[in-house]
This record gives sequence, C-alpha cells and structure tokens, in this order.
Amino acid sequence: MSLRLGDVAPDFVAETTEGTIKFHEWLGSSWGVLFSHPADFTPVCTTELGAVAKLRSEFDKRNVKVMALSADPLDAHKKWIGDINETQGTTVNYPLIADPEFKIANLYGMVHPNATDKFTVRSVFIIGPDKKVKLTITYPASTGRNFDEILRVIDSLQLTANYSVATPANWKHGEDVVIAPSIPDADVPAKFPKGHNRIKPYLRMTPQPNL
Ligand code: BEZ
Repeated sequence: MSLRLGDVAPDFVAETTEGTIKFHEWLGSSWGVLFSHPADFTPVCTTELGAVAKLRSEFDKRNVKVMALSADPLDAHKKWIGDINETQGTTVNYPLIADPEFKIANLYGMVHPNATDKFTVRSVFIIGPDKKVKLTITYPASTGRNFDEILRVIDSLQLTANYSVATPANWKHGEDVVIAPSIPDADVPAKFPKGHNRIKPYLRMTPQPNL
C-alpha cells in the first residue's frame, strides 16, 4: 500500500553518511523532505544531490531538514559524495541513507516494479511538523527533479497551514493567493484586511497575508 497524503510518515532507524539517525527524532519539530535516488554513481542523481546541497540555506530558512536515500551501502555513498562535491562544486551537507536491503525504500513505496524491478525511483516526500505526509511526487529515473518547485510547494504548504488561503496555478512567494471557499463573504474583510478582489463568488483573491 503506498503512502497517501495525511498518513504518518513511517519512522525508521537508518545508517546514513552522518551516522545512525532515528527519523522522527531527527526531524524534531521541523518540516522534512525525504527524497530517493535510483543508485549511486549515476549522472542525474549526482546533479540532484549537488543541487540540493546548494539550496541548503533555502531549506534552513523554511525550517526544513533534508535527507536523501539511495539503495547502496555506506562505503559507496562516501566515495560518491567525493565525486558529487568535486563535479558539482559544492559540499553535500545533509544525510544520505544507505539502504542496501531496500528496507526504508519498501516502507515508503519507493520501488515501482512496473517502472523498474531493480531501482528506487525518484520519490519526494514532504513531511510536516506533525510527521504527516503533506506531498508526494514520483519522477522517473530519467528525469531530474526541479528542487525550486519543492521549495515553492513548501512555501505554499507553510502559508496554507496558517491562513485560510490556497495558492493558485504557478503561484510564487509574494503573489496574490486565493481565499478559501469555506470563508463566507461576510467574514472576508476582517480576515483579510489587506483587501480582496471578488472575481466570482468562488474566486476571491487577496494579497499574501503573511508579508
Ligand atoms: C541517473 O541518475 O542518471 C540515472 C539513474 C538510473 C537510470 C537512469 C539515469
């Protein structure tokens, strides 16, 4: 059974490049991103791990801890990280789980046998401070992920967790947002003092409330 939005992200103990980690304890009260890779010493994965290392300050700013998984042993991970640092001009600054027996990969449904019976695919899980899964994405092995999109979704999740709004298509931090349909018109002026635009009864826009 695959993980669904709202499920508790399964806890686990993992051997990682930063030592043994108990997942829930390590997350603490932070948000989390767990993302998987098909294998070590592969080209697309090498660029992805480098890209995430370069975005570390953006994840920190949002109180998000990042962890990667590749179903290879720890000694391979350590050698591969040397290559990533060298070729991507960065330093991998987050833990990479060694999962040679696919224990965590299977727990999270990261193996898709109809895509490939051998590899973990490119899964992403965003986990909230309540340890619940807020987003899942699955990419095929041949397509590297867009981690700016992961940050954009985190911005939306963190905003909508605190305000009665939703974010429209292609929204980016700073742009107008949608007032939640559950808010009656009569309550809108008090709840959204920056103003609003009632385009249709069901489509009401307001400036991003937390700026
Ligand atoms: C890669 O990371 O480059 C890759 C891994 C598995 C299959 C195809 C590409």
